[in-house]
Amino acid sequence: MSTSNNPLSNSEPWNLVAENYGEMADWVMTPFAKKALEILPADKSSSVLDVACGTGILTCMMANLVNNVHALDFSTDMLSDLRARLNKREIQNVEITYGDGQNLPFKDNTFNDAFSLFGLMFFPDRIKGFKELYRVLKPNGLAIVSSWAPLEKSTLMQATSAAVKAALPDAPSPRANSGTLENPELFKIEMEAAGFQSVIIHEVTMDLPEITPNMFWKLMSEGGAPIALLKIKHSPEEWNSINEKIIQHLNSTYSSNTMKLATTAYFGVGRKK
Ligand SMILES: C[S@@+](CC[C@H](N)C(=O)[O-])C[C@H]1O[C@@H](n2cnc3c(N)ncnc32)[C@H](O)[C@@H]1O
Repeated sequence: MSTSNNPLSNSEPWNLVAENYGEMADWVMTPFAKKALEILPADKSSSVLDVACGTGILTCMMANLVNNVHALDFSTDMLSDLRARLNKREIQNVEITYGDGQNLPFKDNTFNDAFSLFGLMFFPDRIKGFKELYRVLKPNGLAIVSSWAPLEKSTLMQATSAAVKAALPDAPSPRANSGTLENPELFKIEMEAAGFQSVIIHEVTMDLPEITPNMFWKLMSEGGAPIALLKIKHSPEEWNSINEKIIQHLNSTYSSNTMKLATTAYFGVGRKK
C-alpha cells in the first residue's frame, strides 16, 4: 500500500481511530456529505463509487438513493465499522472492497458517478487517484472529490490547533501548503491533468452543530487521526496531563460551554468525456 511523508497517507492512523471515527465524522462530515449530494443529486438507477469511504457516512446516505454503492478503503478497521453500520441499518445494496484508491480493482467504464470525500487528498500520487476515478467512470459520468481548505478558513481547525498549543506550546503549527488540494488552482489543474472536463472547484463552508468543549475534545482526540498520531508519541500519564490542560483551556476559552464552529472544504467536480 501507499507510503508517503504524510503519515495520514498510510492506513495505520486510520485503523487506530476507526472505532471512534464514526462519531466524530457524524458531527463534522455529515454536512459535507449532504452538500456533495446537493451538488451531484443521486439517481435511483445509478451505480456509484465511494473511494476512501471510511466508516461510510456518504455510502450510507447514498445507499437509499441509488441502485448500488461500491465502497472502497485501505483501512480494514474502517471497513469493519462500515460493515457493522450496514448490518444494523439492514442496507443490502452496498459492496465493500478493501483496496488502494490509486489502483482501483474495477473495470474501465463501470460507474455512473464517483466520490472521494476527504480521502483522495491524502494519496501520495493524487493524479493517479484522479486518473483511476476517471478510468472507472462511464463516459459522461461525474466525479466529486473534496479536500479541506486552509486553516484560516476554519474555526474548527483553529480551535483544535489552539487547544493542542495550550498544552504543548512546541507542537508544530499547521502550515499552509500550496502543493496540496487546499490550493483550489492546483486542485483544478490536477483534475484536468487526469482528463476531467468542465472542472469546477466549489468552496463550501459549513456551520457545525453546536457542541460543548468536553464533547468537542472527546470527538477530536478519540476520532481524529492527527490527534491520534500525537497521542501515540506520549505515555498514558503524559497524555492524561495533556488532556487535562486542553480541557482547562477549552472551558476557560468557551465559558458559555458552547462552541460554534465552522469549517471550509473545496469540492472539485469534473466530467468524463
Ligand atoms: C478523513 S477519512 C474520510 C472518510 C470518509 N470519506 C468520510 O468523509 O468520512 C480518510 C479516509 O481515507 C482512507 N484512505 C486514505 N488513503 C487511502 C488510499 N490510498 N486508498 C484507500 N483509502 C485511503 C482512510 O483509510 C480513511 O478512511
